[in-house]
Order: sequence, then C-alpha cells, then structure tokens
Amino acid sequence: MSKREIDLEQLVDHVVTPEASELERRAEVSLRPSTLSDFVGQRDLVGHLQVVLGSARARNQCCDHLLFAGPPGLGKTSLASIVAAEMGSGFRVTSGPVLSRPGDLAALLTDLQDGDVLFIDELHRLPRAVEEVLYPAMEDLRLDVMIGRGPSARSIRLDLPNFTLVGATTRTGLVAAPLRDRFGFIGQLDLYEVDELTLIAQRSAGLLNVALDPQAAAIIASRSRGTPRIANRLLRRVRDYASVKGHEKLNAQVATDALLLFGIDEFGLDKIDRRILTLLCDQFAAQPVGLTTLAHACGEEPFTIEDAYEPYLLRAGLMVRTPRGRVATERAYEHLGIQPKTGGLF
Ligand SMILES: Nc1ncnc2c1ncn2[C@@H]1O[C@H](COP(=O)(O)OP(=O)(O)OP(=O)(O)O)[C@@H](O)[C@H]1O
Ligand SMILES: [Mg+2]
Repeated sequence: MSKREIDLEQLVDHVVTPEASELERRAEVSLRPSTLSDFVGQRDLVGHLQVVLGSARARNQCCDHLLFAGPPGLGKTSLASIVAAEMGSGFRVTSGPVLSRPGDLAALLTDLQDGDVLFIDELHRLPRAVEEVLYPAMEDLRLDVMIGRGPSARSIRLDLPNFTLVGATTRTGLVAAPLRDRFGFIGQLDLYEVDELTLIAQRSAGLLNVALDPQAAAIIASRSRGTPRIANRLLRRVRDYASVKGHEKLNAQVATDALLLFGIDEFGLDKIDRRILTLLCDQFAAQPVGLTTLAHACGEEPFTIEDAYEPYLLRAGLMVRTPRGRVATERAYEHLGIQPKTGGLF
C-alpha cells in the first residue's frame, strides 16, 4: 500500500460518530448554513420558525425560548446560530456539561447584552442546581443570588437583559419536565430524505469548490444515513480520495470507489454498524441484547450506540428495540448474508 493510501485509511475514523478532530470541526463550521433559506429540509420546523421569528421581529421583541431536539448532526447548532443571525442578535454559546456550578451560569447571564441569543448545547446534561438558576431567568428575566453564608446570608435579585435561550438536546426525554415546559417552542428534527441530502452535498461541494456530478451527489446522499453532517463528511472523504488519486471530477465511479475504501457500504453502514448487526445476528444468536452489553461487545460507549448508531439502524429497518433488548431484523440477516440460526426469531 502506498503512503498516500495509508493517509486515506487514517481518515476512516469518525465518519459516523459525533466527536471528530479539530480539523473536521472547523470544516463543519465552514459548511454551516447561515440563513433559514440556506437550511435544507425540515420543512415543517422551518415554517414554524419563520412564523415565530417573523412575529418577534414585527413586535421588535426577543423571540420565545426555543428547544431543538434530535439525533446528532441534523442541524440543531446550525439552527441556533441561524436564529441569532435572523434576529440580528449576538450569539453566546455554552453547553450543559460546561456549566457545572450555578455561578458559571450566573456569570454568563449577567454578561448578556440586550436581545442576545444564549445557546446551551446538550441541555439534558445541565446539573439540577444550575437548572434552578435558569427557571426565574427564563420566566421573569430575574436572577436570585445568595450573598454571604450562615445566618447573615441574604438573597439579592438581579434584573437580566432580554434574551432568548436556545437549547439543543439529543434526548428530549432526559430534559427535566419543568425546564422543557419553559420553552415556548420545541422543534423536533427528523432524519433527512435522500433528495434533501443530495441538495446538501451539492451545496457543500459548491462551497468546497469541487466538481460533484449529480449521480455522485446521490450516491453520497444515499449512504449518509439521513444525516447532513455525515453527507458533508463523506463528501470531504470522496474529495480527498479524488485528489490523492488525481481525479478532477467527483463522478459516480470515484464516489463508489472512495466509499468502498472507507468501508461505507451501500446502506451507508460503517464498520461499527456492521459489528453491531453481526453481534446481534451471530454472536448473540438472535436473542434480545441490552444496550450496555451491546456497547461493551462493540467497544463503544452506550450513549454513542444509542445516539449515533441506533436511530439509523432502527429507521433502516435493520434493528428493532423490544422491551427485553435490541434484536436484528430479517433485513439485517439478508444485508450481512448471515443465515438465521434455527430457533431464532425468523
Ligand atoms: N438542513 C441543513 N442544511 C444544510 N446543511 C446542514 C443542515 N443541517 C446540518 N447541516 C450541516 O451538518 C453539519 C452538522 O450540523 P449541526 O452541527 O448543526 O448538527 P447538530 O444537530 O448540532 O449536531 P450535534 O447533536 O452533534 O451537536 C453542519 O456543519 C452543517 O454543515
Ligand atoms: Mg450541535
């Protein structure tokens, strides 16, 4: 194998998982849509947002607090920054795990400018004590701060500027109900259709200045497991492959060869997906498997399996979740070419 091919092999990691290298993250930011009209798909959600933002602009007020929910890579962070851009507001970004103490959030809130959008990513990971600071801030633009300790301790009330809180979560179910109820609008993002992902790949190819033909765009889209982030990552991998191999145009053949090299099959499954399915079909002999057991057997964290892999395997009809655990479907056996064991589910 040539040195160039070894370099390509190293790019295989993290095609599907949300965490990625700094380089990937920067590339992602450059492809982010910056207005609602650039944002492809999620038509109902975008329509609702147009109304919410349009009416706030007409009243010359901050818009209601917004919560975006859905699997990784579907555009929650992109939408949050679009909200700030469409409102002409400042955009402040933080995340649940970063705000470990109430004081961290209080410092951020008191530093806001009038009209700012405060984006809290991974809202479901906000500690309970920090969440409680958020309630009066969201409802009454009020911050209650305790000064001193013991018998002389007293609470003072600070007024906050107008702001819009935008939260994002991959797990609506883990956001405490009182917090969820304080959002004026909850937008659920769903996996994208292939024609929408084709448009996204074409738009990104334009931004990356690469010649992507429509068939290659459709191949990338159909293997992106309903996720724009993955469509963009696959496009960049196909571009890398083409430049290493000296192809100027990204056509169907180049896209197919590149994705084969990166181990992405025609369903868009990568090595880990196939490992999950093989474990379910073969090793666990069609018995229902619990999430933790499955994650350990794959060498992944349970939340990575649940957030990054399962949504697509479920939607593609390759796996089902039963009360007793995960089970591969007949389609998975066919896809892997594994014969169901007698006594199994099929
Ligand atoms: N509707 C869309 N149209 C065009 N590009 C999109 C769209 N949604 C997402 N993208 C692209 O996908 C990338 C990932 O999107 P984003 O970071 O907003 O996802 P996310 O839902 O916040 O993911 P995570 O849960 O991992 O934080 C963006 O950089 C952007 O280029
Ligand atoms: Mg995000």
